[in-house]
Amino acid sequence: MELKKPPLLTAEQIQKKVEELAQQISADYAARTRAGRDLLLITVLKGGLIFSSDLMRRLTVPLTLDFIRARSYCQTHSQGCCEFLLLPEQPVTGRHVLVIEDIIDTGLTARCIVDYLAAQNPASLEVCTLLDKPARRKAQIHPRYVGFIIDDEFVVGYGMDYEEQGRNWPDIHVLLSD
Ligand code: IMP
Ligand code: MG
Repeated sequence: MELKKPPLLTAEQIQKKVEELAQQISADYAARTRAGRDLLLITVLKGGLIFSSDLMRRLTVPLTLDFIRARSYCQTHSQGCCEFLLLPEQPVTGRHVLVIEDIIDTGLTARCIVDYLAAQNPASLEVCTLLDKPARRKAQIHPRYVGFIIDDEFVVGYGMDYEEQGRNWPDIHVLLSD
């Protein structure tokens, strides 16, 4: 795979941003979790794995982990175009839920996930994404927490893949298109 040089985001830049996001999220949820309810972190697999494992270790509020995997198979937003490959085990009703994503591109996958979780009446429901590519949006989705807004380029590394490769890279690279 051919990559643009230098990396779009280095491991150092990513870690600094993760720390900022963790501080903001910890502050926002401090009061809500003092009321005896913990934060339910739902990580979107596979891409959100690396980001969420770094983020969660910096959060200072009590939390429970869970996971979801989904695929949207329509090119436009319409209900029922969502295939869930894994659903959370934890009950969502009445919980403070934060969905952790690697990247929001068209927004179709995040929209599917948010609609699915919202139907179970959580106490609150927000999305945190490391990267946001707003130029390609097809579905309405407004993540509460965004690490970096990026241009319309395909990126690999730090959880994100090209044909399943590159998820383990510490930096985020732009894939050269021919
Ligand atoms: P959506 O278009 O917002 O539904 O994005 C669906 C999924 O495609 C994301 O959760 C990522 O896993 C993947 N994806 C979107 N853009 C990129 C990219 O630039 N690199 C790697 N994966 C991507
Ligand atoms: Mg993903």
